[in-house]
Amino acid sequence: MAIERTLSIIKPDAVAKNVIGQIYSRFENAGLKIIAARMIHLSRAEAEGFYAVHRERPFFKDLVDFMVSGPVIVQALEGENAILKHRDLMGATDPKKAEKGTIRADFADSIDANAVHGSDAAETAKVEISYFFPALNIYSR
Ligand code: PPS
Repeated sequence: MAIERTLSIIKPDAVAKNVIGQIYSRFENAGLKIIAARMIHLSRAEAEGFYAVHRERPFFKDLVDFMVSGPVIVQALEGENAILKHRDLMGATDPKKAEKGTIRADFADSIDANAVHGSDAAETAKVEISYFFPALNIYSR
């Protein structure tokens, strides 16, 4: 199976709940390596840029408002089948629909405050990782 990279964000609600370590453990237990990481309080321009693909969606303003409401932890993850594996760990976008035992089922409160973000495809992952991390700050072994 292919070794992939994906971009993960622990969103402001999960940072405020102090569950960063619990979420990192889930990545590690699933065989995903953290190859870059940083804590950042996004500016509005940075959040709008990251979610530019959703600019026309009705929830765009709510999404950006939420993402600038507090610091986030951003990381690049690497491992076999990392993109799908990470999305399986996250669970459905709406925590009410997320499978039991997933990060969103366990830590998220609503579709707005849904704890985590993960890239949805290889091409997106490449763009999203480079949005936060220059190649020199990625430590793949
Ligand atoms: S899609 O159609 O598959 O692209 O949409 P989806 O992946 O479900 O959602 C894209 C991102 O928008 C967030 N989202 C919302 N935010 C606020 N309010 C509402 N109603 C809402 N619906 C979706 C969702 O959490 C996704 O954010 P990320 O950070 O990519 O997970």
